[in-house]
Amino acid sequence: MAEEEKKRQENQEEPEDSIPVSEESATEAEPMLEAKEVKKQPPASVGKGSIMDEMPRRSFFSWLTIAWLAFAAATGGFLTMIVRFLFPNVLFEPPQSFKIGFADDYKVGEVDIRWKRQHAIWVVRTSEFIYALSTVCTHLGCTPNWLGNERKFKCPCHGSGFRKSGINFEGPAPRPLERFKIALADDGQIFVDKSKIYQYEKGQWNDPESFLKV
Ligand code: FES
Repeated sequence: MAEEEKKRQENQEEPEDSIPVSEESATEAEPMLEAKEVKKQPPASVGKGSIMDEMPRRSFFSWLTIAWLAFAAATGGFLTMIVRFLFPNVLFEPPQSFKIGFADDYKVGEVDIRWKRQHAIWVVRTSEFIYALSTVCTHLGCTPNWLGNERKFKCPCHGSGFRKSGINFEGPAPRPLERFKIALADDGQIFVDKSKIYQYEKGQWNDPESFLKV
């Protein structure tokens, strides 16, 4: 009986001994299962998470850049306005009085157009005089052209015509071109002063300052 009881106890113990083996195998299997589970996770879920994190960051930096650009543009415009306020536009007009060279620089019987652009005058030399004519049309202020072949000034705006003397003879211009003061400077050059105007209709072309005897 005692032996039977001992065998029975041994048989009962055997299953208890087998339990740790099964537990050990179970514990070894768990990481493998976990690994499999990790492997089974679709790559899309990993990627999706990173994109979702990255997109707001990118848009944040984009907005930050736009905000900085807007701020820089506004600041630049403001500074430009301040600079323009401190240094306003100055209109540099040519001087009203100037020298135009010597009498021998001008041909007798010709209209010299070299000062038209710079000083807005024509210089005319006759056998006796030199005078300076204004290039401003007396109709509405356009600039006529000297037509050498036709020996006249012709205004392109409304067709007024002026003789070499400056007298108007065609078109709507109501009066002759104006002349300016002309004289000899100390160095022998011709000196023109546009601040002094001489008008034919007022009899001012007889003023000795309106022409230079040569
Ligand atoms: S402005 Fe010269 S003709 Fe009118």
